[in-house]
Amino acid sequence: STPITILGIESSCDETSASICQDGQILSNVIATQKVHEKYGGVVPELASRAHIQNIVPVVDTAIKESGITLNQIDAVAFTQAPGLIGSLLVGTQFAKSTALALNKPLIAVHHMQAHVLANLIGVHKPEFPFLCLTVSGGHTQIVKATSPLQMEVLGETIDDAAGEAFDKTAKILGLPYPGGPLIDKYASEGNPLAFSFAKPQVPGLDFSFSGVKTSVLYFLQKQMSEDPDFVQKNLPDLAASIQHTIIDVLIKKLKKAIQQTGIRHVCIAGGVSANKGLRAALVQLGEQLGVETYRPDFQYCVDNAGMIAMTGYYKYLAGQFTGLEISPSARASW
Ligand code: KG4
Ligand code: ZN
Repeated sequence: STPITILGIESSCDETSASICQDGQILSNVIATQKVHEKYGGVVPELASRAHIQNIVPVVDTAIKESGITLNQIDAVAFTQAPGLIGSLLVGTQFAKSTALALNKPLIAVHHMQAHVLANLIGVHKPEFPFLCLTVSGGHTQIVKATSPLQMEVLGETIDDAAGEAFDKTAKILGLPYPGGPLIDKYASEGNPLAFSFAKPQVPGLDFSFSGVKTSVLYFLQKQMSEDPDFVQKNLPDLAASIQHTIIDVLIKKLKKAIQQTGIRHVCIAGGVSANKGLRAALVQLGEQLGVETYRPDFQYCVDNAGMIAMTGYYKYLAGQFTGLEISPSARASW
């Protein structure tokens, strides 16, 4: 039988990405990261939309070339429909629609957060259903229960900042450039995670809160700096390690609670923050402690990428979940 080939497009934030998925195997995953935002200390939506317009044609072209397929082999075009920055989503949506129209192939709308979860099905070491996924990125923090590729339920999520924001905002307080998450990770490896302690906001159930961590770090440093202006420079590794430890502790405690409440034995992490070495180690440790199997996507599938969109598109294709050309993206979206 002829294989099913899906072109996936991702443009929800500041990464322009395209991927080819054939029968559940990722043949290419091209990601163009936008550098323009660095000097502004965060993603500038208008600049992101512009960069997507510039990147999307070469990125898709490269993804098709690298995969070795030809255009006429594409069976459907999958794209991120929500959630994300609206101007960014519009570029990918319009490109996907035009391509589907030109190729006379069906269009598949993908929920970005569902795709982050399904990134765990890319590769050899994959979870069995049902599984739990802690999705931690710059925009989201969620614990999701997946009973099949297309059946998911959000068990808990952040009521304020995302975990990635907690990393980035505290990094900014330390004077580190954006995005600070990977730098906190780097400095933390040389520091003592118990050197300083910061507030861990208490939230009921499986929900999270991170805005208090940022405030706690800010007040602590204002006090220290008034006594010693070089405090941050002298203590950077210990500060990074202690901040990272605080954030990971909040995440892991809730994940542990979710495992105990549901009795689910397969547990994944996803999203940009799942690249964090400390979180990775804490997950493995939690798995050993509770006797559950743990998983994490390869780095290129942790961050925003079209591989996860094409993979989700593949499952939606099998289920016959197509969408019409009248579809619009949305910045926010429930599941
Ligand atoms: O999934 P992602 O690439 O984009 C969003 O959808 O937000 O996640 C980006 C987030 C940023 O907040 C970044 O600082 C964080 O992931 N991040 C990390 C690490 N690598 C990326 N945070 C902590 N440690 C890391 N190694
Ligand atoms: Zn994302």
